[in-house]
Amino acid sequence: PCNVVVLISGSGSNLQALIDSLGEGNPARICAVISNRADAYGLTRAQNAGIATAVLDHKAFASREAFDAALIESIDAFQPDLVVLAGFMRILSADFVHHYHGRLLNIHPSLLPRHKGLHTHQRALEAGEAEHGCSVHFVTEELDGGPLVVQGVVPVQPGDSPEALAKRVQIGEHYIYPLAVRWFAEGRLRLTNHGAELDGAPLPASGQQ
Ligand code: GAR
Repeated sequence: PCNVVVLISGSGSNLQALIDSLGEGNPARICAVISNRADAYGLTRAQNAGIATAVLDHKAFASREAFDAALIESIDAFQPDLVVLAGFMRILSADFVHHYHGRLLNIHPSLLPRHKGLHTHQRALEAGEAEHGCSVHFVTEELDGGPLVVQGVVPVQPGDSPEALAKRVQIGEHYIYPLAVRWFAEGRLRLTNHGAELDGAPLPASGQQ
């Protein structure tokens, strides 16, 4: 099996999609869910699925480096093969990212490399884009800039609000994140010096970010 630790900060709908994708034939196994917020609803989702949880409040630490060091310790206690950021709303230090090089995935609510950072749905609407979506990528030091693994495209519809668009994007997220995690767990997805590879072949757009 492939042991996965999932990091969350909020609702955990992506965590739920991952939980729902586990089971027969899927070598991924979520061994723990860690949140930086004690009130994250995703913790309840994890508990309902019988998954171990931990809370590490970033406000209890003097610096990002101190928080990240404690986070590494907390994660590594579960000896994960893969760490999955699922709505984890903290920027991670270079040391953290290096520690998990090649085994750290993130999902971002835009078609990267467009709209890195926050308020992605509003920015896609303001830019008048016809298409928006979500991206799974390996995490590197560059914020929202690591090699792409898979993207989900959704149409922008006339009169869309950021909230309506966000809901449509999230449906896409719930498809692509379980897919990417399963690929990794099956040993099919790897990070190389050239970008992400699936079954030994470079993924389209993986090096473009
Ligand atoms: C997701 O839409 C994810 O793409 C986004 O947070 C949401 C978490 O939802 N992540 C980021 O914005 C990362 N910068 P969830 O808690 O319901 O999975």
